[in-house]
Amino acid sequence: MRVDILTLFPEMFESPLGHSILKRARENGLVDIVLTNIRDFTKDTFRKVDDKPYGGGPGMVMMPGPLFDCFEHVQKLSPEKGRAILLTPQGQKFDQKKALELSAEKRLILIAGRYEGLDERIRIGLDAEQISIGDYVLSGGELPAMVIIDSVVRLLPDALGDEDSSKDDSFSAGLLEYPQYTRPEVFRDMKVPDILLSGDHAKIAQWRRQQAIERTKKWRPDLLEDNNNKNERGEH
Ligand code: ADE
Repeated sequence: MRVDILTLFPEMFESPLGHSILKRARENGLVDIVLTNIRDFTKDTFRKVDDKPYGGGPGMVMMPGPLFDCFEHVQKLSPEKGRAILLTPQGQKFDQKKALELSAEKRLILIAGRYEGLDERIRIGLDAEQISIGDYVLSGGELPAMVIIDSVVRLLPDALGDEDSSKDDSFSAGLLEYPQYTRPEVFRDMKVPDILLSGDHAKIAQWRRQQAIERTKKWRPDLLEDNNNKNERGEH
C-alpha cells in the first residue's frame, strides 16, 4: 500500500511513523508513506498558505491554490489514482469498519488541513471523501491522519507478525476485546482465571466470547444496539 500525506507539518509525522509496528511495516515494504509539504506549492515570497476570511470573522482560512497544486503534483507521483481523503471534523465518523475498508486500498491520499478552516472550494474541487476521527475539534488533520494510518496499517497482512492478532481486537466483531492476562499467575492478590490455565481451548474460546459480550454490555451497550439495528436492517 502507498499512503501520501499532504500537510504543512511533515515533521509531526516523524516519531509516530518511526516506531513500533509502523516502522516495521515500512521497513518490510508493506507500506510506503510519502509526505509532501503543501507550503512547497506556494508561489509568493512569503510562502503564504492562508488568508483572512471573506465576510469577516476570526481566524485564518487555508487558501485553495497551494493545496490544489500540491494535490495535482502528488497524484502524478504514482500511476494508481488512489482514494483521496480530507480530514475534517465535518466528515463521516471513522471506525474499525472504515479502517478495514481502507486497508484493502492500494493507495490513500490523506489531506491534512490546518488553521480555523479550509476554503470551501477545496472541499468541492478536490472531490475527496471527508473523514472525522470523532466529534471534537483538533488544530489540524495531522493527528487524525496518523490515527488513520496506524489503524489501517496494522490491518495489513503480516503487519503484526502474528496473523491472528488483529482478528480479536476490540470492535472487529462488533464487541470489546476479552480480558487478557500474562505472567505472573498471582499479582497483588489478583489471580489469573483458572479457565485460562486449564488448557481446554474450546472452553477458553467460549469464556472469552462470554467475557467480550459482558464487558460490551457493561461498558459500551451502544455497540450492541448498533449491531442489533444492523441485523434488523439485514446489514453486517
Ligand atoms: N481536523 C480537526 N479536527 C478533526 C477531527 N475531529 N477529525 C478529522 N480531522 C480533523
